Amino acid sequence: MESQALTENFSEANVDALAVVIFKGEKPSSGVLKDLDKLAGGHIAAVLKSEEFKGETGETALLRIMPSGKVKAGRILLVGAGDKAEYRLCDVAVASGTATRYLRKCNVKSFALLPRFDGDAAAIAQNAVQGSVTSQFELDKYKTVDKTDKAVTKIVVFVESSKAADLKKGLIRGQVIGDSMNFTRDLANEPPNILTPTEMANRAQKMAKETGIKCEILDEAKMTKLGMGSLMSVSHGSEQPAKLIVLRYTPAKSTGKKGELLALVGKGITFDTGGISIKPAEGMDAMKYDMSGGATVIGTMRAIALLKPSVPVIGIVAAVENMPDGKASRPSDVVTASNGKTVEILNTDAEGRLVLADAVAYAETQGATQIIDMATLTGAVIVALGDQNTGIMGNDQELVDQIRDCGMENGEGFWQLPLSKEYSKQIKSDIADIKNIGPRGKAGTIMGAVFIQEFIDKAKWAHLDIAGTAWHDTARAHQAKGPTAVAVRTLISFVERSQ
Ligand code: BES
Ligand code: MN
Ligand code: ZN
Repeated sequence: MESQALTENFSEANVDALAVVIFKGEKPSSGVLKDLDKLAGGHIAAVLKSEEFKGETGETALLRIMPSGKVKAGRILLVGAGDKAEYRLCDVAVASGTATRYLRKCNVKSFALLPRFDGDAAAIAQNAVQGSVTSQFELDKYKTVDKTDKAVTKIVVFVESSKAADLKKGLIRGQVIGDSMNFTRDLANEPPNILTPTEMANRAQKMAKETGIKCEILDEAKMTKLGMGSLMSVSHGSEQPAKLIVLRYTPAKSTGKKGELLALVGKGITFDTGGISIKPAEGMDAMKYDMSGGATVIGTMRAIALLKPSVPVIGIVAAVENMPDGKASRPSDVVTASNGKTVEILNTDAEGRLVLADAVAYAETQGATQIIDMATLTGAVIVALGDQNTGIMGNDQELVDQIRDCGMENGEGFWQLPLSKEYSKQIKSDIADIKNIGPRGKAGTIMGAVFIQEFIDKAKWAHLDIAGTAWHDTARAHQAKGPTAVAVRTLISFVERSQ
């Protein structure tokens, strides 16, 4: 999308519409709001007075104006942003997305946004563009009729003056991050007959080629040779061969601590039937998004490849399909993982932790000193936190805190759950080292985490359970329903902070 940052004469921008952020309880009595109200013949004041529009987040009101003289736009859109005291940088993306989705419906092609946020102008520009780009993602890829054929193709962001080069950088960053989020969402939305583990590997490979990073795909023979019996046990019931996708970003000049390597590891179950412990038919279709953690890793690596931070990052995705079949694992099977630990599989539907076990262990063999894994791992996290907070757990409080901070900055919630030896004891098996489930109905999300922890050796590690946050069942003013690309922005911030 075309984007531009301007510092003067908002109302004279060469666009179809002017979008302005309005806070709760505001009156257009001074400054730019007063000027706009004049342009609108007093209708902004009227709309606010009548409470047709209250300034709540997600609210919009469209006013028509007559273009004349230097004013080219024919519309003013009021965009609610809630309480002024709570308005943050990441809310600029929400306001921009809300404006874009509304104006797109009206067949508007270009608009200027007055974000009304006091802060770093380049960062404001970034958030405005990202919000606009992600707001236009739709689930209609496979529709042949009723496709969204309208698009907003140009955004002009108004900011306080700043260096032109910085503003340009902000705009480009917004586009890169927005595109990478949409790339992640497209992967998560793909039907499982199309996005098989092989196809997921192909898409990662194509992305790596386009962005200039390394991509290596480990096939089943290689994984078997490496002793990845835990991951491979999940794949046995599927006709589709498993793939371990390994993406490597190496900066031209590294500024990070010597010997430090961050690994992002994702669960890439392209479809989860539950295996022999089969899931009920109702709602099973949702399990196409069980590769969202993997999609997040690939999308984040795309952004990293293009933003070029000065620290190395490796991305690992265990792409596997979980199916019931003559060769599928049985409840009570015992398998050996690549770190030598034996696992009693008591429920073949707790497959995410089985594939992650070998994937995180592999990350350490590749030199990872910090590991962040992400997975749609448990239904229990949805019960606990719903769709607004990702469950976070880990063995290093500083790492957990850093991720939480980065989340806060980006409007993404992470809520920590505790880990302890007592919890770890609950996955001890009678006949093997560990079992893949804990006691029924107890701390399901923590049980998933303590299982993965068994495969972490020395690395600092955090686990993100995104089962509740990776998919939204309802649309919002700034975002279509469906895949959310949760954690992509947070992880980009995290990587950039460690420079
Ligand atoms: N992919 C599911 C978790 C899930 C459930 C994600 C609902 C999104 C929505 C995972 O593989 C799974 O089946 N987990 C089981 C674990 C149980 C068998 C210990 C669960 O949560 O029921
Ligand atoms: Mn499962
Ligand atoms: Zn699963």
